[in-house]
Amino acid sequence: MSTDRYLTFALGKGRLANKTMELFEQIGISCEEMKDKDSRKLIFVNEDLKLKFFLSKGPDVPTYVEYGAADIGVVGRDTIMEENRNVYEVLDLGFGKCRMCVCGPASASELLLHHERIKVASKYPRIARDYFYEQKHQTVDIIKLNGSVELGPIVGLTDVIVDIVETGSTLRENGLTVLEEICPLSARMIVNPVSMQMENERIRDIVTKLRNM
Ligand code: PRP
Repeated sequence: MSTDRYLTFALGKGRLANKTMELFEQIGISCEEMKDKDSRKLIFVNEDLKLKFFLSKGPDVPTYVEYGAADIGVVGRDTIMEENRNVYEVLDLGFGKCRMCVCGPASASELLLHHERIKVASKYPRIARDYFYEQKHQTVDIIKLNGSVELGPIVGLTDVIVDIVETGSTLRENGLTVLEEICPLSARMIVNPVSMQMENERIRDIVTKLRNM
């Protein structure tokens, strides 16, 4: 494959992109102009390596990769599961480790145990639906929220939440607890299916180097 074509990466803006670039530097992939933390630029180029990097909102990363606007994306497994796009997940990058859990007040464990028709708040309605309907065969009402989901049970909107737990301090400080664990999460590399064929050599080289670090 000719290296005249740019290989394009979509990275979730913020901590995810910073950690990704730290990792990439260790395998010789760097991008000097991305290091300016005050910059509002969204797209960066490494002319020597023929690489492009752009920063998007996390949930948009799988969208760019599915449509081929980016060959490769780096994003959390939570986002990959929720967006459910046609992309290949090729590598667990090992950082951003946390868990997707059902959480609530300890008293809500009874409702889960008896498969009651409960209300569930989440930023991740698809993950919540799949978990309750496909895995637990429990009918629930899912209410989509956009953040600070812990408020759901506290203000009486829902019985439980489906959300990310990292250190557990948000739950602790709000009198909630993990009731059930859905799955482990971490940052993943995803690839456009056509790019996987057309740019196989370049992509495989990157994945192999990251895997052998
Ligand atoms: C995430 C998540 C939890 C919190 C978990 O929220 O939704 O609220 O982090 O982390 P912890 O277990 O270490 O306390 P985020 O900070 O992304 O904000 P949001 O709730 O507004 O989405």
